[in-house]
Amino acid sequence: MKLEVFEDDEWVDEVSRRWISFVAASPTSRLCLPTGETPRPFYAKSAPIIDLSAATVFLLDEFSLPVGSPARCDAMLRRDLLGSLSQPPLALEALDVDAADTDAECMRFDRLVNDGGLDLTLLGLGGNGHLGLNEPGTAADSPTRVVTLHEGTTLAVSGYDEAARPTHGMTLGLQSILDSREIWLLVTGSHKAETLERLMSGPIGPELPASFLRDHQHATVFADKSAASRL
Ligand code: PGA
Repeated sequence: MKLEVFEDDEWVDEVSRRWISFVAASPTSRLCLPTGETPRPFYAKSAPIIDLSAATVFLLDEFSLPVGSPARCDAMLRRDLLGSLSQPPLALEALDVDAADTDAECMRFDRLVNDGGLDLTLLGLGGNGHLGLNEPGTAADSPTRVVTLHEGTTLAVSGYDEAARPTHGMTLGLQSILDSREIWLLVTGSHKAETLERLMSGPIGPELPASFLRDHQHATVFADKSAASRL
């Protein structure tokens, strides 16, 4: 795993430029994308320029919330990225949290991802070190599955929808994330500094799921100076 640190006011431009170049060089890429606060300015910068019309997009995770909740990841991705693209991606694949058989749905999604794999997975860093909704305690070989959310994750969701208090969600498993050919972990802000410090220098293990990235050959952490202030 590599670490690249940018000035706070250069982070968005730099990472956006690289994403646009990545997709321009490989237009048919299979991309896994996160939602949340971290990628929002990056998506806003990239959306008017990037051409995803030949790309397949996989949505990283989803909360067990009713359709229409602004805190759902599919709603956030539409708001923050998809709605501002000049052309939609070739395909958009997401976990159906409303499926009658959620275990079968998770297996379907894992098969879809693994049949061709992921060229690039973008990730945010949870304050507790989670990746997607792979909360602390998750093994590196975990499949896509229904998960119980930790309290901090539930609280963060209510920032997007006051009434939303999801207890569960579905997430791409760590196994499929770590099988991605390339992974970019996006980390910004001083509130992530302590978690990033643990990620860079603490033990590798399930207590901090993001620590598994340290063993990945093509993972890069793109941090701003605020997030990197304790390194
Ligand atoms: P954030 O969330 O980008 O909203 O900080 C990251 C995460 O929890 O994965």
